[in-house]
Amino acid sequence: MPILETRDVTKRFGGLVAVNQVCMTVNNNEILGIIGPNGAGKTSFINALTGIYKPSSGQVFFQDKEITGLPAYKIAKQGISRTFQNLRVFSNISVLENVLIGAHCRIDNPFHHIFLRPLRSRKIEHQAYEKVIALLKNVGLEEKKETLAKNLAYGEQRILEICRALASDPQLLILDEPCAGMNSMEMDTLADFVKKLRNEGNTIVVIEHNMRFMMTVSDRIIVMTAGAKFREGTPEEIRNDLEVQKVYLGEQEAERC
Ligand SMILES: Nc1ncnc2c1ncn2[C@@H]1O[C@H](COP(=O)(O)OP(=O)(O)O)[C@@H](O)[C@H]1O
Ligand SMILES: [Mg+2]
Repeated sequence: MPILETRDVTKRFGGLVAVNQVCMTVNNNEILGIIGPNGAGKTSFINALTGIYKPSSGQVFFQDKEITGLPAYKIAKQGISRTFQNLRVFSNISVLENVLIGAHCRIDNPFHHIFLRPLRSRKIEHQAYEKVIALLKNVGLEEKKETLAKNLAYGEQRILEICRALASDPQLLILDEPCAGMNSMEMDTLADFVKKLRNEGNTIVVIEHNMRFMMTVSDRIIVMTAGAKFREGTPEEIRNDLEVQKVYLGEQEAERC
């Protein structure tokens, strides 16, 4: 039973068809990789799923409910959490506060309850704190919880951003180019972390340009090109597909493989 399904999702920007009738399913507890050259429409597709853009046509279903065209905050509340291609940590607040912000996205504690139901509010806040501490422990950032986010190493900031997305307890986590700007050691750490998350029961969609990373982490891969789905298969099938090598890696890279 898929957790997410898209049916013929299309996104146009004026005359440009950035996403062209893409059908996709994401199964519970898998890592689905989406790869493709720059400009293939990967980010636009994810933006159309998560409410950043409204799809021009097509439908999106999440846990059997249609979510097509809902605003981003409603989709987040239903349990889809994501990171962005450009790092978006809040630089001048602490590691702990960065992740607490993520936890609050799905906490049901209206502002006036702070005054009307202070005990309940305090309990909810405490639970959020405990959860965030557990998350930071899990990624080895607990000792740096008071550090300003900007003082973390780049790779750590990327992991912090994923922690913030996880703090809302999402049913589906989407990572858009999580390796961007990372060195190969940071990439290996991230690959281990993403696989660990899947082993703990999470369902994850990863968009990434880095083929080596995707081959390591993905259970299944979708290749996009020119806005459309071009191939779908296991990492092994995708790796051995000559057409994919030509499209994705370019002729030069294909020769090297
Ligand atoms: N907000 C936008 N307005 C106009 N064109 C856009 C916008 N966002 C993306 N595009 C265009 O859509 C195409 C797909 O881009 P994108 O989804 O960012 O690809 P990818 O993430 O695969 O690199 C590109 O031609 C890009 O220039
Ligand atoms: Mg992109």
